[in-house]
Amino acid sequence: MARYSAADLRLAASAAIRAPSLHNSQPWRFRLHNGVIEVLADRTRQLAVADSTGWAVRLACGAATLNARLALAAQGTPAEVLLRPYGDLIATLTPGRPRPPTYGERDLAAAIPRRSSHRRPFWPDPVPSETRVRLIEAAREEGCRLELLVGTTALTGFAEIARSADRVLRRDPLYQAELHGWTHADAAPDGVPVGAGAPLAEPQDLLPQRAYGDRERAPGRDFEPEPLVAILGTEADRPVDQIRAGQALQRVLLTATDAGLAASMLSQPIEVPAAREQLRRSLGRPGAPQLALRLGYGQVGGPSPRRGVADVLD
Ligand SMILES: Cc1cc2nc3c(=O)[nH]c(=O)nc-3n(C[C@H](O)[C@H](O)[C@H](O)COP(=O)(O)O)c2cc1C
Repeated sequence: MARYSAADLRLAASAAIRAPSLHNSQPWRFRLHNGVIEVLADRTRQLAVADSTGWAVRLACGAATLNARLALAAQGTPAEVLLRPYGDLIATLTPGRPRPPTYGERDLAAAIPRRSSHRRPFWPDPVPSETRVRLIEAAREEGCRLELLVGTTALTGFAEIARSADRVLRRDPLYQAELHGWTHADAAPDGVPVGAGAPLAEPQDLLPQRAYGDRERAPGRDFEPEPLVAILGTEADRPVDQIRAGQALQRVLLTATDAGLAASMLSQPIEVPAAREQLRRSLGRPGAPQLALRLGYGQVGGPSPRRGVADVLD
């Protein structure tokens, strides 16, 4: 049986750590076991208040798994993936038959270091329909659904749910203390740098933004009036569905990056159970919403910090 080497593990982990995670908590570990690469959840990095169920850990680890898959495919040894949401194990990657990467795999792997969250106002340019279709297909490829909110009714309905969830979280002192603990003004290898946050909220804003910093807004730089908002959803809400959602999230984000789009994530309406239920009903379909995305064109910033690869290898 083919085996992955220690060098393959390093390659996979270097790509995996670029994945997004709630408050940049980076709740993952990687190890080699009999030539198989294992992706594991790092429970010491699970957010006790914001993520008591482990939903965000599974999304982040799913996203990390997709990056690892793309890096391995891009170097010619694609993985056969088994999702294993038992205990701390998230996924196993076993070497499949060697083959050259497809153009799609190469493009998405190349987008990994270029992707980062963009929480500032976007330019008003609309996202063309071919790009919208690509995003929807990216989620479908990983067994999930991406619903693009079309029309003002859907958008304002979502914005109301998101703002009311944000208010609930802002009133929760434990939640706020945890959030501030993960927000850094100085150079740290994890957490959200103040400079990566959105400018201070103003009453005319449609969507809520996390308070990662206290940067004033430049005059006249309001948020785009009609943002493209997408809801990533799964059929069911078992741990394995949430890992799938993480893989789909990352495929959508990398597809967006490859298409020249910027994106940020909104999870307040997922974290507050009543809001999540309201959002689920508003979509009018069975299934579970897992995350909301805001997509558009904007000046992309630099990458956010990560711990080194050596820190995440077992
Ligand atoms: C499950 C999950 C929920 C997230 N929720 C939010 C959010 O509500 N607001 C936000 O600005 N970013 C959110 N993010 C993005 C992270 O803050 C971001 O990925 C992390 O800080 C790393 O930065 P990067 O995306 O630039 O690499 C979320 C990410 C994940 C995986």
